[in-house]
Amino acid sequence: MCFSPELLHLYNLKGKAVVAVDILRATSTMVTAFANGATQIFPVMELEECKAYASHNCLTAAEREGVKAEGFDLGNSPFSYTPEVVNGKAVAITTTNGTRAIRLSEQADEVIVGAFLNLEAVVQYLKKLGLDVLVVCAGWKGNFNLEDTLFAGAVVDRLAGSFELENDAALASQHLYLEAKSNLLGFLRRSSHVGRLEHLEIHKDIEFCLQHDVFDVLPVWKQDRLVDVLAQPVV
Ligand code: MLT
Repeated sequence: MCFSPELLHLYNLKGKAVVAVDILRATSTMVTAFANGATQIFPVMELEECKAYASHNCLTAAEREGVKAEGFDLGNSPFSYTPEVVNGKAVAITTTNGTRAIRLSEQADEVIVGAFLNLEAVVQYLKKLGLDVLVVCAGWKGNFNLEDTLFAGAVVDRLAGSFELENDAALASQHLYLEAKSNLLGFLRRSSHVGRLEHLEIHKDIEFCLQHDVFDVLPVWKQDRLVDVLAQPVV
């Protein structure tokens, strides 16, 4: 369990499966986009790089400071990624923290995108893979955040019995999750990003992103993009 991409240098990613997570909202939004038919997602770090994907027949999406960036097709709300908008489409996306966590994890043997929305799909895949697992929390600008830590705790909890814990961060996140899980929203009420999003009046995004096991979707990094490895090929 790694609390922030800034701590990634402390870990050797070789031989590991990374689960990159940004519950509010980047990875929850990506999972929703795949569930609604997006074909592939290009997570990139910079706005200009993202914009360039428009000429490759991609929808472009960008968020900075919780707000949709000017000149892009989409922001970072899962509610914008409806089937009408994303079905059959590729999406290039850049966000403040989430896309960074994914791209900085590229050296791992597998990079999986996780959210509460696809938690069970992630856990089942990790059990089959048999690699050591590192959950990489996107945090906020290098800092710890509560919602990604709770997700890490949920992964630890569901893998208990199949894996051994290697660091105290994993143990701490599990304790936190067990304490919070009966009322995640209440637990997160005073957290920094919930405050930020509530200020922007995005209450429904928060509730949506805290739902467990809604989508059987598994975004996995393949060379330069994310694909849903559970998606049925269209015949
Ligand atoms: C991020 O990547 O920092 C977030 O997903 C921010 C947001 O809530 O849009």
